[in-house]
Amino acid sequence: MEGITGYLFRNAYQRHFSGIDTHFTPFVTGTHLSRKQKKDICKENNPDKEIVVQILSNQADDFLSVAHIVSKEFGYSHLNLNLGCPSATVTSRKRGAGFLSDPDRLNRFLDEIFSASPVTISVKTRIGMHDASEWENILPIYEKYPLTELIIHPRIRDAFYGGLPDLEAFDYAYKSSRHPLCYNGNIFTKEDYEKIIARFPGVQAIMIGRGLLIDPFLPEEIKGLSGPDVAATADLASEDHLAHRKEDKCLARLKENKSLTRFKESDRLARLKENKNLARFKESNRLAQLKENKSLARFKEGNRLAQLKENKNLTRFRESNRLARLKEFEEDLRESLLTYTEGGPHKVLEKMKEIWSFYCYNFEKPEKLAKKIRKAQTLDAYLAVMRELF
Ligand SMILES: Cc1cc2nc3c(=O)[nH]c(=O)nc-3n(C[C@H](O)[C@H](O)[C@H](O)COP(=O)(O)O)c2cc1C
Repeated sequence: MEGITGYLFRNAYQRHFSGIDTHFTPFVTGTHLSRKQKKDICKENNPDKEIVVQILSNQADDFLSVAHIVSKEFGYSHLNLNLGCPSATVTSRKRGAGFLSDPDRLNRFLDEIFSASPVTISVKTRIGMHDASEWENILPIYEKYPLTELIIHPRIRDAFYGGLPDLEAFDYAYKSSRHPLCYNGNIFTKEDYEKIIARFPGVQAIMIGRGLLIDPFLPEEIKGLSGPDVAATADLASEDHLAHRKEDKCLARLKENKSLTRFKESDRLARLKENKNLARFKESNRLAQLKENKSLARFKEGNRLAQLKENKNLTRFRESNRLARLKEFEEDLRESLLTYTEGGPHKVLEKMKEIWSFYCYNFEKPEKLAKKIRKAQTLDAYLAVMRELF
């Protein structure tokens, strides 16, 4: 996800959570990849995980240029085309979901890239720009080309992220498309996932966006896993490909597995149990607060609140060591960003603020917390909020 899930996030996520099969990079644009984009996609910075590079383009030459770069320089054999981004700066240039408003041009573009691409191509799409009826003209275009996967976020562009995904539009593709399908949209709980799988058992994959940012435990919960793959983590630490990351404080820590040992050997878990924050978290009537919270209007539009009400996961969050794990992740990600992000602490602060606009929903009075974090002018001020929170 643009601006959030770069390689440092993906790697930190992998050190603390599990359950994701494939990570998509935030989209790249242009004819050549910038240094930053190259850093984000290179395999050395993405060890032990399957990565799909995503491109946002409406120029066949640009697409093909990037396709050659990712294939020759980076060893990828696949690109994902973004036809879903709703941002005005993107759609006004007829890119992302904006490209859907010109099906003839889209068709010509696909024709050109599919006839010359050195890599296989999948598409991530919305169902139209202004009206769901556009979908009936868009889907047949995709059917003409050998897409390896069609990822459908069944909303029109004008809906941005509001309202509910249009499951009828997804059903139309489910019944008529020859492509392997991936469903994307409003998967916030395991129950959301199960409902989609129950209705569309033939889907090849489910893509999760905001749900994973709000609840990083979601993929492992869906898969019935109970934490990071420690064996994989140990492998990760011993492999040669880590040589270049020796200076990485987080990884060094991981190598010695201090955080894990510290966690196991110390009385930290006990302390955490006693932790007042946790107690407050447990004792508080979190759902009632969520219910009252006006900032949740956008979730209310959907069925999110109803799901939360029923959600047993919340109880599990309160009773388990999830808070401790979130804390470890926050620390690791922050240190990692501090070590590697260009732009210094200020840039790191910006990133952490963005991430907390999602994580805040795991805490009581999420808007208040988000506001407090947003108000932090320095990383020290941010850290003070973290200390208070954890
Ligand atoms: C901050 C933000 C950044 C995003 N960046 C991308 C992106 O780079 N590529 C992409 O395909 N989708 C991007 N998306 C869209 C999500 O991948 C996803 O399609 C959308 O949020 C709906 O799924 P969800 O309900 O699981 O979040 C972004 C969404 C958000 C909120």
